[in-house]
This record gives sequence, structure tokens and C-alpha cells, in this order.
Amino acid sequence: MAAVTSSILNIVPIDLEYCGLKRDSLKGEVAVVTGSASNVGLGYARAIAWAGAKVVVADFNAEAGAEAARVINEENGADTAIFVKCDVTLESDVKNLSAQAFAKFGKVDLLINNAMNMRLNGKILESPVSDLEQSYAISARGVAMAIKEFVPAMVERGHGVVTYSATQFHYMPPMVGGTIYTAGKAAATSLVMSLANEVKGTGVYVFCLTPAGVGRFDPSRMPPPPPAKEGEPPRKAPDFAMFGMPGFNGMIPPESGGAAMVYSILNAERIHGSGIIMSDAFLAMDYPFPNKDTAPKLDPNARRLTDMDLTMAFCTMGPGFVGFNN
Ligand SMILES: NC(=O)c1ccc[n+]([C@@H]2O[C@H](COP(=O)([O-])OP(=O)(O)OC[C@H]3O[C@@H](n4cnc5c(N)ncnc54)[C@H](O)[C@@H]3O)[C@@H](O)[C@H]2O)c1
Repeated sequence: MAAVTSSILNIVPIDLEYCGLKRDSLKGEVAVVTGSASNVGLGYARAIAWAGAKVVVADFNAEAGAEAARVINEENGADTAIFVKCDVTLESDVKNLSAQAFAKFGKVDLLINNAMNMRLNGKILESPVSDLEQSYAISARGVAMAIKEFVPAMVERGHGVVTYSATQFHYMPPMVGGTIYTAGKAAATSLVMSLANEVKGTGVYVFCLTPAGVGRFDPSRMPPPPPAKEGEPPRKAPDFAMFGMPGFNGMIPPESGGAAMVYSILNAERIHGSGIIMSDAFLAMDYPFPNKDTAPKLDPNARRLTDMDLTMAFCTMGPGFVGFNN
């Protein structure tokens, strides 16, 4: 089949078989993916559909969202995906999202909370309070409304997965900046991790999957390499496909991020109540990308954090107290 292309979405063909995933592994499931008109969310939506699920693309970007649903239907067959325009900060939009999803597919099994505005990343001292309100509105309040809309039916049926695109920075380390962004992310992470306790034992599994450096950089927009000096061999443009995944540029392609999401959904029972960073998912699934030699190693002696460890970790984020004499 010819590769599906798009003039407005930055995509490459998606095929997750070579990393051990199966085309029908999510057959019969229905997913709602917020913020799935671009980058991480788009990769999640396409990968989940590739694995056989129906997908509701939810985003407030109507043009890209409709195009995402078109791409997914062309890749997987008509009626695989619908687009619902949804601003997750608006209760009426979230209710409409739920109504449209149930009208089309009759149920929702997988709730992928992913929408966020990454530009809300100012410093607290330099940002208006309205920025913080907006960060909480998308991240925390939007996630809470989606949970309240979709999770009760999952609990009733004893089946479901809820996940959140968390960040590794729940407090802002000095080198990163962006307090407004992380405050919103931390609030949503707290909600989702607490939900895991609320639904323990119901058959609904909850975890956070943290993308880290997911995106596709367009090499055609790079300035050409400087001309070689006299006597030097001609300079070559860098080979961006060097890790066997088209589009690789030192970031994780969204299609690969989608593979990590499908893997995590399939293992949701084991991950329940935890956070997983994408590179750990790659290592666990023996995925050939990113380069295993450079990926952070999983500690074979690592133990799972208890609920109390996790609570304390949130209490003491940051370098921590080391005594008055140090
Ligand atoms: N890209 C990364 O490496 C990375 C790292 C850590 C966490 N994350 C998290 O992953 C998620 C996706 O990141 P991304 O890089 O794809 O961001 P992105 O900005 O490329 O995409 C975000 C999507 O969310 C949509 N959106 C924004 N506000 C919305 C709203 N109010 N209602 C509905 N849709 C809305 C946007 O239209 C867009 O399609 C975010 O939650 C982000 O915080 C990403």
C-alpha cells in the first residue's frame, strides 16, 4: 500500500511490527487521545490505530485534527478514526467529546490525556497569574474533566486504561526554566497517580508515560553545511536516518513514541500506579530505537516505589535537605 502523506502534518509511514508489536493487539478497544493533532499525541493516535483500535482524535486545532483522522482512516481503513474538535479547558467541549465518542463507537476503553500548551512555560515571577490558570486549566482541570467523563463507565465495565503525558520535571530544575508549565504538569500527574489508587482492583489501569525529547525536526529547514575549505573533502549533510528510523534527528520520532504507548497500554496492569519514561519503555520492549548503547540503563536491582515512597518523593522534590552543617 502506498505510504499516506500529508501536506500539513509532519509524518512518516508507521510500521511497528519490527519492534515486536502486532497489528491486532488492541483490536476491539476504543481510544480517546487529547492533543492528537500533532507530534506526541498524533504518534499515539496513529500507533494505537495501527494496533487495531478505533481512535477519537480530540484537539482544538480543527484543521490538523481533521487531517489526522483522515490520515488514520487512510492508513487503517474507513471508520477507524473520527475527529472531534475539543478544547479540554471547556466542560461543554469535553462533554461533547464524550457524546460523540459514545455515539460513534459505543464505549471508550483507553483515555490518553496528552493535550498541553508547551508555550505556557514562563517563570512565576515574570508571568501573569492568568498563565498559571491556563496551565492548570489544560493540564489539571482538563484531565480531571476527562477522567470524570470517561472513567465511571470503565469502572462499571471493569476494563480500561487511563494515561497522562507527564514530564520528567515536576519541579523546574535551574537549567530548564518554565515554572508555569511544570506546575500544570505536576498537578495533572498528581491527579492521575491518585486516580490509580481510587480505581485499584477495578480492572481499570492508570499510569503516566513521559515522553522525553519527542519531535521531528525538519532537516530541509536546516541551513546547508558551510562550504569546505580549500583542500578539505566536500562536506556531507548529516544522515538523519542513521538509527534505522526515517526522520531520526536526535529526537524520538512521534511514531516511535506511539510504539512505546502501545507497549505500555498492553502492559498497563503491570505499570498501574507508576510513571514510565519513554526510554524505559523502549528498553523493556527491546525496541531497536533509540540506540540501546546510549539509552539510560534500567537498574536490574531497582524496586518499584511504594505508594508512600512516591508520596514522599512529591513532598521533597528538589535537591533536598542535607543538614545545617553542609
Ligand atoms: N515532546 C516531548 O518531548 C514531551 C516531553 C515531556 C512531556 N510532553 C508532554 O506530551 C504532550 C504532547 O507534547 P507535544 O510535544 O506533542 O506538544 P505539541 O504542542 O506539539 O502538541 C500539543 C497538542 O495539544 C493541542 N492542544 C493544546 N491545547 C489544547 C486544548 N486546550 N485543548 C485541546 N487540545 C489542545 C495542540 O493543538 C497540539 O495538537 C504534552 O502534554 C507535553 O507536556 C512532551
